[in-house]
Formats: sequence, structure tokens, C-alpha cells
Amino acid sequence: MLAIATPIAHAQVAEVIGDGIIRYDASLEARQNRRPSIALVQPFTAIGDVNPDNMAISPEYSMDSGSGRTVASIDIPEGTSLYGTGMCAGPLLRNGFVTETWNLDAFGYGLGDPNLYTSQPWVLGVRPDGTAFGVLADTTYRTQIDLRGGITFRAEGGNFAVIIVDRDSPQEVMEGLGELTGSIAMPPRWAVGYHQCRYSYNPESRVREVAQTFRDKEIPADVIWMDIDYMDEYRVFTFDKEQFPDPKGLNDWLDSIGWSNVWMIDPGVKDEDGYFVSDSGDEHDVWVRDKDGNVYNGEVWPGVCVFPDYLNRDVRNWWAGLYKDFMSYNIDGVWNDMNEPAVFNVASKTMPEDNVHRADPELGGTDTHDRYHNVYGMQMIRATREGVMAANPDKRPFVLSRANYIGGHRYGATWTGDNSANWPHLEMSIPMTLNLSLSGQPFVGPDIGGFAFNGDGELFQRWIGFGSLFPFSRGHTAKGNIDKEPWSFGPEVEATSRRALERRYRLMPMLYTAFHESSESGMPIAQPTFFADPTDLALRSEDDSFLLGEDLLVVCKTTPEMDRVPVLPGAVDGVEWAEFDFPSYDGGRDSKDSALPQLYIRPGSIIPTGPVHQYFGDRPDQRDELTLLVHLDANGEAEGDLYEDAGEGFGYMMGEYLETEFVASVEKGRVVVRINEQDGKMAQPDRKINVIVVGSDKKGRFED
Ligand code: GLC
Repeated sequence: MLAIATPIAHAQVAEVIGDGIIRYDASLEARQNRRPSIALVQPFTAIGDVNPDNMAISPEYSMDSGSGRTVASIDIPEGTSLYGTGMCAGPLLRNGFVTETWNLDAFGYGLGDPNLYTSQPWVLGVRPDGTAFGVLADTTYRTQIDLRGGITFRAEGGNFAVIIVDRDSPQEVMEGLGELTGSIAMPPRWAVGYHQCRYSYNPESRVREVAQTFRDKEIPADVIWMDIDYMDEYRVFTFDKEQFPDPKGLNDWLDSIGWSNVWMIDPGVKDEDGYFVSDSGDEHDVWVRDKDGNVYNGEVWPGVCVFPDYLNRDVRNWWAGLYKDFMSYNIDGVWNDMNEPAVFNVASKTMPEDNVHRADPELGGTDTHDRYHNVYGMQMIRATREGVMAANPDKRPFVLSRANYIGGHRYGATWTGDNSANWPHLEMSIPMTLNLSLSGQPFVGPDIGGFAFNGDGELFQRWIGFGSLFPFSRGHTAKGNIDKEPWSFGPEVEATSRRALERRYRLMPMLYTAFHESSESGMPIAQPTFFADPTDLALRSEDDSFLLGEDLLVVCKTTPEMDRVPVLPGAVDGVEWAEFDFPSYDGGRDSKDSALPQLYIRPGSIIPTGPVHQYFGDRPDQRDELTLLVHLDANGEAEGDLYEDAGEGFGYMMGEYLETEFVASVEKGRVVVRINEQDGKMAQPDRKINVIVVGSDKKGRFED
């Protein structure tokens, strides 16, 4: 049918809600009736009105009479590069693509699928001159994001606000998104380590075997994961008595050799009299209901299930309460999966859109599933996080969620769902991680090695080579597949995996600093290479490389033939980015391992690194040693930051941290690094500070 766009009768209105941040509504009436935002960290009252006609970038609202959707179209300057749009299977540059926000259990997804597990109705635009803007469609409803000519949002559910951040650079726009939607909380330091998972490690003797093998082989890792088979017939909050007879004993033993643990909890609760979660949920009246007011049933892993209505505060409190006993088994972190929510026995793969949620008034009040579908998972992990924190008030929570919505990074990390073990998925995992990062989810990464199918050693080797440098770094694979631990493919792949993970652990001071920066400002941890120079148009579609923090460039090998020629950022005032590699554990240089990505350092930067360690808390004597990698700029200067805290607990919020700014300059032909500024109450560690000058044969040293 021919869709006719009818302009909405009243002119749109615009109000200033932040520095360079304008919120638009279709009309005064639409503004007055605007639904509460679930994306924003607070409601944002207007600072003043502006005339939309005077703004460089502003939406035009209309109504698509064919689909009944409300349309907001934004003209963009020619040559603008578009990014973001949440989780999308495809290249970094999103111009020309059409996606849709509708959280979906997308097992077996592929290039160009319109909707996957999370919903982020946000587009980042970078103009040819490097200035940038971001556009948020502030609606939870199913929304098409059409980037075939400008930016067009077509949303179900009637009027919605469009929020535009217009600033001088993409980095400043990301800070604007952070102001709007909040930033991540500092995770426990162990969660920044490497994670090892499979569907499933069972029985518990297999968990022990895998954990011990990492230690025996000295392959660094922090976290081992328990997927659904630990449960008693997939009943959440239970343990299989035969396969996991003593979960606390298992976790205590894991602790003793330096492992943290994460256990899975799904939203689908087996509908069964006599099962305590089902009975307690009945008693507290927590389940999502259908349009006729009956408790809704859908099938997931345990068979017929009921689903908590996480949109409701009382239900979230009830759910949070379930974690008190669960966490007492010395559980460290929680994995909430299947929370799109996934339902097996229906074509839609989810619950009916006319199901009813008794949502809190602040979230929008009682309404149908079509409105709240995209935030179901987000509200689930919000409740989980509260439960985990109440159970362990002195520890930082870690929650991983499959489904999410923009703003949901406040509650948990996300991964890119059930990818596949093949080269296109390996390649895609870089831009997918970057576009999610550019959509406000900085704590993100793919299943390293691929979830569906086996793949082979070469694929695994290449994937862990760079996957070890993603913010969330976890190996995982599906049931029935071959083993995919770092040693499963023979000695060569094992050696590369060890080198790759040793790099992550050596880079930990810098990586942890990038997490801190993100927690302060909303800045992505993995950044697209064009962030190095937003005015360099040649970098705009570079998706085989990424920046970790601001100063380290990771250039990946994404094809079997390694024949892709990456576009590198240009010299800065005549000084090139300098290639660097760590000395390898076996005496060689890591870069001799051609399966590993190449690392480059930005001119003018100082990157703090540490010694190889096997896990957080390992070798405390040496953990305090620092090695500063210095690459001087054209003036012979460099600077860099280091953030440190206890890695656990909340002392850092009371000033128990140390933030150090290092500066380097050349004095009498030598590079001297000094502390320029220091902040925080944490005691200055008594440690050795080494200096390595990169990209020059000058010698360097640290001076107090
Ligand atoms: C889903 C998850 C996957 C997990 C499996 C079993 O497919 O995406 O990661 O292993 O369920 O729980």
C-alpha cells in the first residue's frame, strides 16, 4: 500500500534540556501528554524553549497513514556518517540501513537482520568537518530506524519525543548521551578480566577441570560461568542435586584458585505447584497477565512457564528478594538470559503484544506488552541488580543481560547474543561491539569463538586474538559443539590464546582506567578508529580496527588470508602512531604471532601497563609494578592517566582511589616521566615504575 505521510497539524515544539541538548515534541499537546521516559536517567525539566526552525538539526513530525506510525524525519548534511542504532549485524557505517527496535531471541542471526536482542533507538551522526550530533527517539515502542536518506524514525504507539545532542565532536556527543542516560557503575575488577563459558560446564567436576587447567597452563582468566544445566530441570534458583550437589563448596574452591563465578537465571519460571518460586510468585501475584486477565503461560527451557512482571516495583522487590539465598552460595555474578522475553512455542518468539503489564506510574502505568516489550529485560536486570546488591551490600554487582534497552547499561553488561562460528561473524563482532558502544552500552563484547557451530582452530585463534581486548571478553559455545577452551585446538592456538590474554592482563591498568572514564562521562571503552581524527573521512568506515580507550589502536586480522589492508589514523604533526608489542612469555615478541592484532600508540600519550598476572588478586607483590609506554608528540611531550582503586567494594565512592596524571618530556636527551597531578585518598603504592619509550630509541625513566 502506498504510505502517505500526513504532517501533524501543529508545529513541533522544542526545549533546551542540557548543554547543546534539545528535546522536540510533535506539538504542545504532544509535549503535555508525553509519556515518562525509561531511557533517561531523570525526567529533565526544560531550561527554556527554542524555535525548532532555528536549529541546525531538527525533526519534522508526520503520520504514516499506511502503518499508523508516527514519523520523525531528520535531514542531515550531505556527507554525514551515521552510527549507533544499537545491536546491528553488519558494518560500522550505518548509512543506507534500515533496522527496527524489537528485542528478539535471534539465534542464528545474520547480516542485515533488522532486529536483534537489544533496542537502542539512537543514531550518532558525524558531519564531514568532524562535528557531530546524536538523535534519540525517546520511545519504548517498536520503532523503525531508516537511514536510507537522512534519519527517519517510524514508531508505533503515537507521539514521542526526539532528543538531539549537537556538539563539536562525536566524543562530546557521547558525553551528552551519558548526561541523558547515565553511565555504567564501576564493575568489580574481576569482571574486567577474561571470562570462560560454555553451554554448559556440567557436572561440577567439569567446572573444576576447566578452571584447574587454566591455572596449570598459566592462561590468565578471572571468571567461569554456570549455564542452565546447573539447575534442577531448568527451575531458576535451584541446583541439580546430582550434578551440582554443593554449589557453595564449588564456588569456595574456585575462589581458592582465584576464580570468580557467574550463574545464570532466566525470567521464565516453571509453572508448577510445590516449586517455591512458582508458589511464592502466585502468592505475591507477580505474573504477567494476558488481555483477559489470566496469568500468561509460555514455553521456555523448563516447559510451561510464567513470567514476572518486572515493570512493577512490588514484583521487582519480590524478584530481588530471591537473590538473598541464591547469592549465599558464594555466587559472585548473575547472567540474565532469554529476557526479550523469549518464548519457544509461538511464531513471534515472544509473548503476545496485548499481554498486560502493571507498570509503575513513573514508568508509564498499566499498559500492554507492545509498549513495554523492549524494556522487559532492562527492568529484569534492574531488579536483579538490586537483589544482588542487597544480598552483598559490600560488593560491586555484576549482571550480564541478553536483552536490553538504551539506558540499560546502568544495570548490566550486554553481549551480542547467539552468533555463529564463521568468518563473517568474526568480522562483524568488531562493528557490532562498536555500534553498541556508540549506542550507550560500553560494557559489551561477542561470544568469542562463536556460539553456534564448531568453527576451527584458525578461526578461534584469530577471534581470541582481538576478542581478548573487547570491554567484555568471554569465550562461549553452544551445547553439542566441540570444546572451545584456549587449549582445545592444539599447542599453536593455545600459545596465541595465552599471549592474547596476557596482553589483556598487561593492559589492565589502562583498561580499568578506561572503564573508570566511561563510568564518569559515558565515553565508550572500545571506540571506533575514526575517534582518533573525526575529520579524517578515510577512517569513517574502518571496521577492522578499534581504539581501546583513546590511545591504543587495535588492528585486527579478520579474514583467513589476512589480506585486509586497514586504514590507520594519520600522523599527528608529523609523528606517526607507533607500533608496539609486549615481550612474549617465551622470550620472543608478541607481534611475531601473526594471528594477534597489531597494537599502535597515539603520539603524545602515556599508556600505563602492568605485569602479566593470572587473575585479579594474583601476585600482589608484582601487581603494583607499573610500566609506562610513552610515545612522544612533535613537541617531545606526552601525557596519560591512571585510575586505581581496590577493584571491589564502594570505598572509591568515598575517595578511596588514586587518579594520577603522568607527563613526559625530554630532558638532556632522555625522556623523563613525572606525576603532574594526583587525586584521591588511596595510599600511593610503593612500587617500581618503568618507562618504555615507543617509536624512538631514546631512553626513559620515571622521576618522583
Ligand atoms: C541462549 C543464550 C546462550 C546460552 C543458552 C543456554 O541461547 O543466548 O548464551 O548458552 O541460551 O542457556
